[in-house]
Amino acid sequence: MYPEDIVEEVRQKNNIVDVISEHVRLQKKGGSYFGLCPFHGEKTPSFSVSPNKQMFYCFGCGVGGNVFSFVMRYENATFKEAVKILADRAGVKLPEIELTAEMKKKASEKSILLEINKEAAKYFYYSLRSPQGKNGYEYLQGRKLTDDTMKAWGLGYANMYSDDLCKYLKGKGYSDEMIVKAGLASRREDKGMHDKFWNRVMFPIQDMNHKVIGFGGRVMGDGEPKYLNSPETLVFDKSRNLYGLNFARSSRKNRMILCEGYMDVIAMHQAGFTEAVASLGTAFTIGQASLLKRFTDTVILSYDSDGAGTKAALRAIGILRDAGLTGRVLDLKPYKDPDEFIKNLGAEEFEKRIDNAKNSFYFEIEVLARGYDQNDPQEKTAFHREVAKKLCTFTEDVERNNYLEGICREYMIDSAGMRKLVMSVVNQTGLGTPVREKPRSGMAASNSPEDGILKAQRILITWLCEEPDIYKSIAEYISAADFTDELYGQVANELISGIESGGFVPATLVSRFEEEEDQQKIAQIFNTKITGLDGQPLAMDSITDKEKALKDIVLKVKENSYEYHSKNLTGDVASIDEAIRGKKQLEKLKMATIRL
Ligand code: UTP
Ligand code: MN
Repeated sequence: MYPEDIVEEVRQKNNIVDVISEHVRLQKKGGSYFGLCPFHGEKTPSFSVSPNKQMFYCFGCGVGGNVFSFVMRYENATFKEAVKILADRAGVKLPEIELTAEMKKKASEKSILLEINKEAAKYFYYSLRSPQGKNGYEYLQGRKLTDDTMKAWGLGYANMYSDDLCKYLKGKGYSDEMIVKAGLASRREDKGMHDKFWNRVMFPIQDMNHKVIGFGGRVMGDGEPKYLNSPETLVFDKSRNLYGLNFARSSRKNRMILCEGYMDVIAMHQAGFTEAVASLGTAFTIGQASLLKRFTDTVILSYDSDGAGTKAALRAIGILRDAGLTGRVLDLKPYKDPDEFIKNLGAEEFEKRIDNAKNSFYFEIEVLARGYDQNDPQEKTAFHREVAKKLCTFTEDVERNNYLEGICREYMIDSAGMRKLVMSVVNQTGLGTPVREKPRSGMAASNSPEDGILKAQRILITWLCEEPDIYKSIAEYISAADFTDELYGQVANELISGIESGGFVPATLVSRFEEEEDQQKIAQIFNTKITGLDGQPLAMDSITDKEKALKDIVLKVKENSYEYHSKNLTGDVASIDEAIRGKKQLEKLKMATIRL
């Protein structure tokens, strides 16, 4: 990564208001700017940009961060890419990241492999459009692909001769060794160099940045194997790429459709579903899930409805869940895959099926139900028991209850009975009361006591940031250690030392975190509405009301902090001293009046 001071220089030279104004129409309102959020659909502006904090925050969908976070989200870039984009914009020269000899060799091999792939793609592309490619061209036409579609996806043809591509690539100056390393040929003792692909229509596989990293080739008609794929190479990692993502990444829909086939992706894009992607002839992986997570939080699964497809869908659901993504499952009956569905029923019907895609938990239960004879009392009981077990995986009461009721309604199960069953499963397996899951982002704020405490901490941080003057009134009571969430503690630490030294820009802090999720959390901390603990807005003109509200908040933060630290005592003398001091301070704060 680049050194921190350079990152900071790049940030300072890119005023967030200017950068965002290039993409969003902003209007000044008070000390901030407002506009329509580019990250979710809305009609009234809740997207705010603060020139003082050099941060943005959407009160509608909860996204936020500094100028790097904006570029990461808007351009679907990594942190490093965002730094690069903004450095170019401001004319800051970034240092070359030092490479070892080994890394240099690898980098140059990689770039040769990419060149070879590009040349091969061009070769296949022209073959398809030449007289010898007639069969391939007609095959693709027969599959209802338009010329524009074939062009956009760079579809091609590998002809009947099994050494053509090799000859062509050698003519371009590439060595046998590199052609083999690219996965395009193999060398055999008897026959010499030998193309991997021949007599197939060719689907170049591109990475997110439109670079050709491999190929899939389909036989025209019947034959084995139906699809032949490039092997994994230095530039082709099947578990970290998705077919179609180079286009889908900019579809700007709030979902992705995940399917199994190259043809499915292309057919969907042709029908306007430009958010479709596919795994690469291998099972869906966690790496692919985190790739999708950069662009969406909802993934519609479109797998075959046969046994193998259902199994693959169930696996994918688990992986999506682990990645924190919501999965929904498409039902395309009576058709086998999206390509066939669209060919027969069209895009409008397909959209309807998407609207009706099943919540992944319901899908799992539905699959489960197929395994039991609901007319047999014993099997029915066993089914209910399995449902109860699955319901136990929800750690949040409200969510679990909602699912419980939905399932009971659908399968006509008595919900009081199911609730008892869930309790008995919990007791039997000794899980205890399911623990509460941490909300993933600020958006899903529920009203648990824990959320109340975090909210008090957030209000205090935002308040200190917006009115640093209040710090002197509460300095004797508050320190960074009182912010019990790890990230909040780090933020408070920077904030307090910033106030003490007389300069703190929250946006600087955001750059220390490369993950969008952390950046968003920080944006949320600094954009909490300053209210009393009851959630009522403060009458900012009444100084006594303000003093009272501030005291309530400080007291809440302090009480929690005392409780937290005394629970985590190590038992040595120092920590007991610390606890006693904390207790005294708390007593003092209770009696005190905070004066602003
Ligand atoms: P399918 O067999 O479902 O084919 O394979 P499909 O996508 O419907 O293809 P068409 O419509 O008959 O042309 C789904 C995916 O599995 C991989 C490919 O990535 C394919 O797109 N696959 C399938 C292979 O890699 N090799 C094969 O032999 C078959
Ligand atoms: Mn198909």
